[in-house]
Amino acid sequence: MPDPTPSPAPRLAEIPAPVFADERATLYLGDTVELLPLLPEASIDALVTDPPYGLSFNGQAWDDASGFRESLPHIDMTGMSAPEVFETWCTAWAAGALHALKPGAYVAAFGGARTWHRMVRGIENAGFEIRDQIAWLHTTGMPKSLDLSHTIDKHHGMQRADRVVQATDHDGVLGATRTVLSKGTPVTEDATRWEGWGTALRPAFEPIIIARKPPEGSVVRNVLSHGVGGLNIDGAGFADGRWPTNVAFDASQADALDVLTGTWQSESLSRKFPIFRFDRKPSAAERPRAFGVSHSTVKPLALMRWLVTLVTPPRGMVLEPFAGSGTTVEAAAGAGFCVVAVEKDAAYVPLVRSRLDRSSRA
Ligand SMILES: C[S@@+](CC[C@H](N)C(=O)[O-])C[C@H]1O[C@@H](n2cnc3c(N)ncnc32)[C@H](O)[C@@H]1O
Repeated sequence: MPDPTPSPAPRLAEIPAPVFADERATLYLGDTVELLPLLPEASIDALVTDPPYGLSFNGQAWDDASGFRESLPHIDMTGMSAPEVFETWCTAWAAGALHALKPGAYVAAFGGARTWHRMVRGIENAGFEIRDQIAWLHTTGMPKSLDLSHTIDKHHGMQRADRVVQATDHDGVLGATRTVLSKGTPVTEDATRWEGWGTALRPAFEPIIIARKPPEGSVVRNVLSHGVGGLNIDGAGFADGRWPTNVAFDASQADALDVLTGTWQSESLSRKFPIFRFDRKPSAAERPRAFGVSHSTVKPLALMRWLVTLVTPPRGMVLEPFAGSGTTVEAAAGAGFCVVAVEKDAAYVPLVRSRLDRSSRA
């Protein structure tokens, strides 16, 4: 069982100078687990983030146990499974966030379908209340499945003469770097038996956890004394002011729903849900590139803007502890909020800056 409340890493005495700061945004370069406890206590109005999911995405160290262990050198994780390491690490960053957020402040954090239960436990272990979960349904995921039949042929030392594989550069879009154009014909009897079997579904759903730092007293008292504790129902309304739902679609998913269901109460069913129509997947223009670097897990800007608007009071301060290319930073600054962000990889700092330049020109 992981330690439910690892103490914040005591490696720095005070927060280092930011690598970027203006009236809208402040960006720190460093480890969030180390930096969040050094932010002023109860200074932040909302946290919106797309953290590592603990899936070793594309072999990235920041998304696997090695990166998580690096964040917590003071915790002995010998003997912990990878999921336990991930949960312990989630508890640690959430504990830092709890310190920095005002009582009643909301959290919106993406998770991966396979690992989000560990993140939810981490957030709860740290002291947050779990309030809801938004299902983000999209069409951009690629299945990461083992082709059992082909692998069995390889296991038996057989090559498929008619298998065609093309190396592809996805330039940051979720998914594989190789495309199988033709699977080829199974060679062995075992491979023939397992033809058509794999190990994974195509990801089309990501949960977004909605949590809250416990309010002080009643929600009303908390809202009046700390200015946070509610969700901006009107501000995050959609399609002529509808109540925000805990399901959101990308345009292709919404179209597929409408094809399947036709109309209901004389309108298309998808109109009952927020749809991020212009950001079906982040376009090349939305995915910044600087000095040859782009980010591999960029979230749609409009989706981040909707989340930030939902959980942050007007002119409030948003925290993004895992900035990446800075989508949350651009969304928050563009919607008139202030934002404090942390990113541990220096290569992504120019991407965040280019987003801020772009939003100040807009
Ligand atoms: C899923 S990505 C965020 C992508 C972002 N939503 C975007 O649209 O560009 C997570 C980011 O967290 C960063 N990261 C991972 N561990 C970290 C840590 N301990 N402290 C700060 N940043 C970290 C990674 O370098 C990565 O850029």
